[in-house]
Amino acid sequence: MTSLIPAPRRVVAGFGEVRLTGDSRLCAGPGTEGVGRWLSAVLQQATGLPLREGRQPDDTGDTGIGLRLDPELGPEEYRLVSDPTGVRVEGGSAAGVFRGAQTLRQLLGPDAYRRAPLSRDRAWAVPHVTIEDAPRFRWRGLMLDVARHFMPKEGVLRYLDLMAAHKLNVFHFHLTDDQGWRVEIRRHPRLTEVGSWRARTKFGHRASPLWDEKPHGGYYSQDDIREIVAYAAERHIAVVPEIDVPGHSQAAIAAYPELGNTDVNTASSKGDTALSVWDTWGINPNVLAPTDNTLRFYEGVFEEVLELFPSEFVHIGGDECPKDQWRHSPTAQARIRELGLADEDQLQSWFIGHFDTWLSARGRRLIGWDEILEGGLAEGAAVSSWRGYAGGIAAARAGHDVVMCPEQQVYLDHRQAPGPDEPVPIGYVRTLEDVYRFEPVPDELTPREAAHVLGTQANLWTEVMEDHARVDYQAFPRLAAFAEVAWSALPAPAERDFAGFEERMTAHYARLDALGVGYRPPSGPRPWQRRPGVLGRPIDGPPPNR
Ligand code: ACM
Repeated sequence: MTSLIPAPRRVVAGFGEVRLTGDSRLCAGPGTEGVGRWLSAVLQQATGLPLREGRQPDDTGDTGIGLRLDPELGPEEYRLVSDPTGVRVEGGSAAGVFRGAQTLRQLLGPDAYRRAPLSRDRAWAVPHVTIEDAPRFRWRGLMLDVARHFMPKEGVLRYLDLMAAHKLNVFHFHLTDDQGWRVEIRRHPRLTEVGSWRARTKFGHRASPLWDEKPHGGYYSQDDIREIVAYAAERHIAVVPEIDVPGHSQAAIAAYPELGNTDVNTASSKGDTALSVWDTWGINPNVLAPTDNTLRFYEGVFEEVLELFPSEFVHIGGDECPKDQWRHSPTAQARIRELGLADEDQLQSWFIGHFDTWLSARGRRLIGWDEILEGGLAEGAAVSSWRGYAGGIAAARAGHDVVMCPEQQVYLDHRQAPGPDEPVPIGYVRTLEDVYRFEPVPDELTPREAAHVLGTQANLWTEVMEDHARVDYQAFPRLAAFAEVAWSALPAPAERDFAGFEERMTAHYARLDALGVGYRPPSGPRPWQRRPGVLGRPIDGPPPNR
């Protein structure tokens, strides 16, 4: 009857329905006014009903919707009751009421996701039902890489809506990389003036590269970021910014060459001495110099980042930082000696540790990719476990909090079928069922260690996703399966009812259609979705060239 995704904990279906009519009122109790404004806006545009404001959440009549807080419930827990006295959504906090309001929208049918009514005289009904629901994890994340390919602000706001519709609550915003710097930093304007544009982009395989000669780029102004953060907050989504250091920094070095290891040869193959924003993919040897100048520069960056993003966590990257330049740089070697460090791994650890202390002193928590474990993990730091589970297991055993996002399971840039029509060839084949059977908490962890798993996150790296249609195709439908893994109390992977999930997906595809999501249909890509991607036609095997 309900086909809800993600599946709630408990559903008891009744027999009748609550009809929404021109007389229906929406009553938001104290503390739920923001959810009330959001819900009436989306339902008014989809249904065309006036949904006037009511006075008391208990006083909905038999056709109204009441929202209110119930302090007995957990923060994101909610109860939704639709019965002959109307519809009530109660949550332990406004976030809980908001999650319940998303369930209510699903109960109204796919057209509740449209931006204008299809007809003025259709009936809108909420089936009689009692739903009790709460999330499994407190961190249900999606990472979007806007550095490799820029996603204009409207697209980001749209993804926040799509996350909210799937009860996801952490948006990890990958804002900087070798191929682009995407956030305005007022005290260092060249980061966006120079760092947000690249002259061209490689496509095709490493063996036979071709170049797209169109310049690519763009960035978010500080006001754009404030708008994105506020829009996310209205949807009870935290935005965790990522400024990737000390690797993945060529765009910053192109803007401010003194951030690089200027005492080693960084000339490009074209004979240039200055680096430009990178136009190809892979792991880049040009990393930040471990100097006081670099530390002061990035403290300035993070000061502005903290003003823009109120999140508990700030992501500092820390992944894929080759140490060759540090090995050859007299300045880096002098720093190793001065600090009494054993090697370049410890130099990276010192660099990360500096920002851990710096962020902690400002009441924030550092999170980084699992390479930050190498050379010793800074106290209080949390880890995004991406190279499989191993980093997450080691971190949890050492008492650090972990977000499980192993690339083998939840990197959604990997292709979702092996067929020759699959437009994005990279990596493993990870089907909808593979994602549905992903388990964020490995068996090896004791219950005490497992308590350090804050949750899980799907990652959308965009080397091979040059526009929003491609992002939609890679993200969906797998993000729906991921949302159920992150939210619902599913059994062990082998016991999960994938056939039942697929059946519920039939209703969910209709919601995604109404939302205008260009998902991969179960029967394979539509003809226009088969266009060759950035890497050209699919190939066999897992090319490691992300
Ligand atoms: C990563 O995929 N380099 C975190």
